[in-house]
Amino acid sequence: MFSEQASKVMIKKTEKPFAPACERNQQVILEVIKQYLRSEDKKILEVGSGTGQHAVYMAKHLPHVLWQPSDVLANHQGINLWRQEAGLNNVAEPLVYEIGKNHLPEAQADVIFTANTLHIMSLKLVNVFLKEVGENLKPGGRLLIYGPFKYKGQFTTDSNAEFDLWLKNIDSNRGIRDYEHICEKLKGYNIHNIADISMPANNQFLLFEKHD
Ligand SMILES: C[S@@+](CC[C@H](N)C(=O)[O-])C[C@H]1O[C@@H](n2cnc3c(N)ncnc32)[C@H](O)[C@@H]1O
Repeated sequence: MFSEQASKVMIKKTEKPFAPACERNQQVILEVIKQYLRSEDKKILEVGSGTGQHAVYMAKHLPHVLWQPSDVLANHQGINLWRQEAGLNNVAEPLVYEIGKNHLPEAQADVIFTANTLHIMSLKLVNVFLKEVGENLKPGGRLLIYGPFKYKGQFTTDSNAEFDLWLKNIDSNRGIRDYEHICEKLKGYNIHNIADISMPANNQFLLFEKHD
């Protein structure tokens, strides 16, 4: 298998949706979030929560933060199964956010987090997402994006190049995005890249902050 992103969502006996990649990457993602979380960051809006595994894992380890999941409605049942099992009081009910159909939820989030989403949607929808973040992120707010990226048009690894082909075979609008494109779009909203961290499994963690 060329990348963690290729792993499928499975159904465990409990009927909760289960993505093996989440279990593999949740700890390293948490470490970066902890590193960049400030004491004033109280609410994190997650976009494209998927199974809900990241939501409950992060919330469990960040008890002072309210984690707000969001995704297309079809994923809410699974997210709620994870929420119910975890029994945490700091994971909110998921909000409906389908980029291109709804607007970014007015969650008043200090931080917006999204993992493994931008290559799954079209570039047009990526741009819609960046515009909505640009217009809605509060000054000082942060945007954290985890996933694979290209640099100056080049894949970071052969396996990411294969992954990109695999994505495009499923849907020609999908594909690994250019780091420079993301930075350029966000710059237009005074949101700047403050860190770019290479992660395991050919992924990056891009961290942005909106300046006053
Ligand atoms: C590969 S999954 C990643 C899920 C989770 N964040 C993770 O890392 O396991 C891609 C997620 O993007 C969501 N997604 C795809 N298109 C979307 C859109 N237009 N608006 C919002 N979410 C979308 C899917 O519903 C799915 O949950």
